[in-house]
Formats: sequence, structure tokens, C-alpha cells
Amino acid sequence: MYKVGIITASDKGSRGEREDLSAQVIKEEVAKIDGEIVEYVIIPDEQEIIKNKLIEFSDVKKLDLILTTGGTGFSPRDVTPEATLEVIERLVPGIPELVRMESYKITPRAILSRATAGIRKQTLIINLPGSPKAVRENLSWILPSLPHGLDILKGTDSECAR
Ligand code: MTE
Repeated sequence: MYKVGIITASDKGSRGEREDLSAQVIKEEVAKIDGEIVEYVIIPDEQEIIKNKLIEFSDVKKLDLILTTGGTGFSPRDVTPEATLEVIERLVPGIPELVRMESYKITPRAILSRATAGIRKQTLIINLPGSPKAVRENLSWILPSLPHGLDILKGTDSECAR
């Protein structure tokens, strides 16, 4: 079982003005790789607040995986990648590279996502876009490779050659 946290960055959502359908999609999708949502917050698009939640979920709650949704676009309030880059110790560029490549086949607007991914201690952090549709698409490409990476991070697998 993988311990997963969801951070929804949304000004409207945090004020209760928008239902968080993306978090529901994440919950459904991660169940397919035996991921369980053990932490969930919906917070405004504030870099400091997002950064502090990422640190708490990684260092205190010791989650295996944190999925953020929202705040990756061009709006002046979109700061999720900046908060993520502040806390990660090692970049995982392959994840956003694959996602933008595949997403571009669906919508040219995919290149407008500034999502990033990386590792802090033993936690993998991945930014997802805000819309439920985009979240489902993103996870369909990302999830197949995740168990192996998460097992290596946890130290329960070290063999890549199999
Ligand atoms: N990626 C996929 N797979 N499908 C989508 O519909 N929408 C794009 C992009 N990535 C999209 C996608 C759009 S329209 C934007 S503006 C960016 O993600 C950023 O979204 P965000 O600001 O909600 O994080």
C-alpha cells in the first residue's frame, strides 16, 4: 500500500465555491496501484501555504506520494510549480516531459501547463493540472511506472534490471 496525499490548490475551492472533482478522480485512479489517500487538503493558490503543506506531508506525515492538482497554468495566482520547486531536492523531469508530450496529442494547450515533479526525502511530488479530465489523462500515463519508482524510494526494491 502506498500512502498518498492530495493537495488541491484552488482559490474558489478553498472558499467552498467549487466542488473538488479532481481529488475524487485522483482517489479513484490511485486505488488502481494500491494507493490510499491518507491526507487531503484544499487550499488557496498561495505559494507559502502550498509549500508548507508539501513539507508537512513529506517530512511529518512521511507520505510516499503527493499529488497536487491546480495552479500550474499562466494565471498570476498559479504558483503550485514554484512552491514545489522550493521544496524538492531532486527533479524527476521524465514525468512532466511524458505528460506534456502525450497531452499535446489531446490539446495543444497542454504546453501551457508548467507542472513539475521531484523527490523530497522519501516522497515523490507530482503536479497535475486542475481539471478532472486533465487529471485522469495525466494519471493514465504516469501511474504504470509509479510502483517501481515508489518501491525504490521506500527501499523495498532496488533492482531495475528485471
Ligand atoms: N493536459 C491534459 N492532458 N488535458 C487537458 O485538458 N489542459 C491544459 C493543460 N494540460 C489539459 C492539460 C490547460 S487548458 C491548461 S491552462 C494547463 O493544463 C494548466 O492547467 P491548470 O492551471 O488547471 O493547472
